[in-house]
Amino acid sequence: MDLLALLILVFPAYVANSSPVLLGGGLPVDFKKKFWDGRRILGGGKTWRGTLGGIAAGSIAGIVIGFVAINTPYTIYDCTCKYVSAGFIASCGTMFGDLFGSFIKRRSGMKPGKPYMLLDQLPFIIFALLFLLPFGLLPALTALDWLIILVATLVLHVVMNWLANRLGWKKVPW
Ligand code: CTP
Ligand code: MG
Repeated sequence: MDLLALLILVFPAYVANSSPVLLGGGLPVDFKKKFWDGRRILGGGKTWRGTLGGIAAGSIAGIVIGFVAINTPYTIYDCTCKYVSAGFIASCGTMFGDLFGSFIKRRSGMKPGKPYMLLDQLPFIIFALLFLLPFGLLPALTALDWLIILVATLVLHVVMNWLANRLGWKKVPW
C-alpha cells in the first residue's frame, strides 16, 4: 500500500491513542482493584474517561477521514455503510492494546508513567489493526506495510510524547 493509504488506515487509531492524555482522569478502569500478585490490575494511569474518550475521539476521526477520502480508493473508512464502525472498531482495538500494555507493565512491577520500550508504543496499533480483521476491514498488508507502520508508530509515539511533555500536557516525556 502507498504511504497515504497507510496513513489513513492508522489515523483513527492514532487519534484514539493520543487523546486520553487530554481527556483522562477520574475513575480508573480497574476500579483501583489489585491482581493476584498484589499489584494494581492496570494502575491509575488508565481511566474510564480517557478510555471512552479515546474511543469517541477515534470514532469521530474515522468519520472525518471517511468524508475526506470518500470516493477515493484510499480508505476503509470511506464506505458510507462502514466508515463509522471502522473508526469505532479501530479505536476499541487501540484502547484494548493500551490497557493490555499497562496490564503487562503492572505484572512486571513497573509503576505507571515509567517507560517500557516497545510495550508503550506498539500494542495499540497492533490491536487496532487486528480488531479490524474479523470484520473484513483490514486491507491486505505486506510485511513491508507492517514494518513501515510499526517503525513509523514507534518514532511518532516518541516524538509526540516528547512534544506533549513540552506543551505541559504530560508529566513525563515518554
Ligand atoms: N490516560 C487515561 N486513560 C487511558 C490512557 C491514558 O486516562 N486509557 C491518561 C492518564 O492520565 C495517563 C496519561 O493519559 O496518566 C498518559 O497515558 P499513558 O502514558 O498511556 O499512561 P501511564 O500513566 O504512563 O500509565 P502506564 O504505565 O500504565 O502506561
Ligand atoms: Mg506512559
